[in-house]
Amino acid sequence: MAEINLMDCYPRSTRPIEERVAKTTDNDRAIARQFGKEFFDGDRLHGYGGYSYHPRFWEATVRRFRDYYRLHDNAHVLDVGCGKGFMLHDFKALMPDLTVAGVDISEYAIEQAIDDMRSFVSVGNAKELPYEDKSFDLVISINTVHNLPLEECKQAIREIQRVSKAHAFIVVDAWRSDDERRRMLMWNLTALTYMHVDDWEKLFIEVGYTGDSYWFIAE
Ligand SMILES: C[S@@+](CC[C@H](N)C(=O)[O-])C[C@H]1O[C@@H](n2cnc3c(N)ncnc32)[C@H](O)[C@@H]1O
Repeated sequence: MAEINLMDCYPRSTRPIEERVAKTTDNDRAIARQFGKEFFDGDRLHGYGGYSYHPRFWEATVRRFRDYYRLHDNAHVLDVGCGKGFMLHDFKALMPDLTVAGVDISEYAIEQAIDDMRSFVSVGNAKELPYEDKSFDLVISINTVHNLPLEECKQAIREIQRVSKAHAFIVVDAWRSDDERRRMLMWNLTALTYMHVDDWEKLFIEVGYTGDSYWFIAE
């Protein structure tokens, strides 16, 4: 188990944190948590404010994953919380012989999946992955399992561990300082489980997670 920033090629975005906290209501959070059209392609107050494919998001990062994990051409890769399948699309473009699968709670995202990923992604819950033990060489889950309440979040991480035969990499909402905590509390729309990085590490040990991790920090 390692803390490793494999997201260092992912484009950084500026976050209008103060503006969001001033405007966001509990109703906005409830809308975002439905993970429907509003979350992906609605108002910025409810989520992404437009979730469209662009190679600049994942192209360099999937290369980073391939190189770090020394993935072989025929590897099996799962994305838990795959959204519209954009990361898997870029993985397949880089490594055409991969077997890819994606699962997401959002019917909207799966219906709107990028064309070539439609047959590889399905609606499902991270806490109950519909795959056999040790099915994947690499399981990735970016900014997803923290959307579950604590016990279900633990279950989701156990599931990621169960279906992985070699590697796993997850990114979760976290902080390392009081200031980062304050900013996370202002920025968070959908997460139900978020904590100090040291507490995540204890949680990983508690659930028997041996994969890698990194943090989404509200900067
Ligand atoms: C912040 S988005 C991240 C999407 C994608 N991983 C990315 O980085 O672009 C969180 C994703 O988690 C999905 N999600 C939320 N709860 C989930 C659950 N219990 N099981 C599976 N997916 C879930 C949402 O629908 C959404 O696609």
